[in-house]
Order: sequence, then structure tokens, then C-alpha cells
Amino acid sequence: MAAEAWALGAVGVEELEGAIRVAFADHDRARVARNQLAPTAPVEAVDDDLWLGRERDRMETVEAGRFVVHPPWAPTPTRGIPLSIDPGAAFGSGSHQSTRLALELLGRIDLRDATVVDIGCGSGVLSIAAARLGATVHALDTDPAAVSATNANAAANAVADAITAELGSVARLDRVPSADVLVVNVTIDVHEMLARLLPWPPRIVVASGFLRGAQVERCAAAWERPTTDRVFDGEWVGLTLGP
Ligand SMILES: C[S@@+](CC[C@H](N)C(=O)[O-])C[C@H]1O[C@@H](n2cnc3c(N)ncnc32)[C@H](O)[C@@H]1O
Repeated sequence: MAAEAWALGAVGVEELEGAIRVAFADHDRARVARNQLAPTAPVEAVDDDLWLGRERDRMETVEAGRFVVHPPWAPTPTRGIPLSIDPGAAFGSGSHQSTRLALELLGRIDLRDATVVDIGCGSGVLSIAAARLGATVHALDTDPAAVSATNANAAANAVADAITAELGSVARLDRVPSADVLVVNVTIDVHEMLARLLPWPPRIVVASGFLRGAQVERCAAAWERPTTDRVFDGEWVGLTLGP
């Protein structure tokens, strides 16, 4: 377990009786670790306000395909499509590979006048990217901090009219007729659950949040679509599936 925590980017691991405490300098990594490690062992991933404050202080401008993600207090980049993102307490600063891989894949799809559903919107970074490419977006997250961050970031990027952000998950989609593109950056077990529960088949799924190897096969099998595009960053993989 400690080895897995180090592989996920921990900066400190403390072995306790029947549990481990793992420290991350970056709250995106802490959230991934909590999802990936917690099902098999009790994990206390440290990402409290102190860590969040440090993470925000350390946020940098990062490129991801056609997009450049930058904190609002950094100068607006003059190259690419700038996305001004303050993640607040949500995931999605652009520091994590899974976010950047999903952005890269989204940037390769023609999203003019498309409808996009973003499940697990976090900071709203993927929703805002899709809206900047001309899509209308329905964003969902089970974390209230994510819904607040998505609304605030949509307004800051002047795409609030194109994005509806709601608290909840796939059950909320019974009121959404369908989507051209579903974008999902979650762990592999959540992909499998969402694919089973989705009320309608999207034309295209942009999937991220999983690792090389068996998880790639599990993701393609869950969504039952051929892989049409694939990107890697270290151990992390992003897929575009179908049509
Ligand atoms: C890895 S973050 C992705 C955030 C952002 N989309 C990005 O790409 O950076 C995953 C997000 O999914 C949310 N989430 C996890 N399980 C979910 C579920 N079953 N339904 C909706 N949201 C979920 C989490 O709260 C978290 O905000």
C-alpha cells in the first residue's frame, strides 16, 4: 500500500496500525489517492486547507493540447485558448495529468453547436474548455465545492450562459435528453458504474482518470465503444471512444 501511495505522488507516508496516512503537496493527487487506495485500505490523505493554500500558491500556467490553463492571478497567456481556473476546494487546477489528457482530447473534437455532459466537473475546467469550443454543457458533480467552482469559473471565463452546473450524478440526466459528447475524468470503478447507469448512449465518450494496462481495457469495455483516439502522460491514459 505504501508503495502504491508513493507511486501516486505522495510526499510522505506514515504507516499506522491497520491504516496509512499519506501526505500530498497537491490536492488533486490527494483526491486521486483517496479514490484509488481507500477501497482496499483505510487511507487518510492529507489535503487540508493548509495544503490547499500551498497548492494554490504553487499553481502554474500549464499547456494541454489547444488549451492553456492558468490561475486567475497569472497573466493571461497570449498563446492557445486560455482557461482561467481557480479550483477553490475542487479538483481540476490543470496540475494533474488526467485533466490535461482530457483537455487534449476535447481539443481535437469539433464541438461547435455540440451538447456536452461533463460528469465529475470539479473546477469546471473541462466544461469551460468545451464551451470555449462552441458547445452547450451540462456539468454534474457530487461535491458541492465543485458546483460552486464551476459556476464561478464559468462566469470568469465569460461562458456562464453555455454551462449549467448541478449537484448530483447520472440520476440527474433523466431530465437531459442526450449528449453528443460525454466527458468523464473519474477513477475506473466510477467509469464502470456510470456506463451501467447512463440513461442514453452518448455518441462520443472522452474518458480519463485511469492508468496504463488493465484499466484501459476495462474503460473501453465499460463504455462499449471503439477507441478512436488515445493519449498518454506517464502512467496516465486518456481515451476517446466511438463512434
Ligand atoms: C478527478 S476529478 C475531475 C475534475 C475535472 N473534471 C478535471 O478533469 O480536472 C473527479 C470529480 O468527479 C467527482 N465525482 C466522483 N464520483 C462521481 C460520481 N459518481 N458522480 C458525479 N461526480 C463524481 C468528484 O467529486 C471530482 O470532482
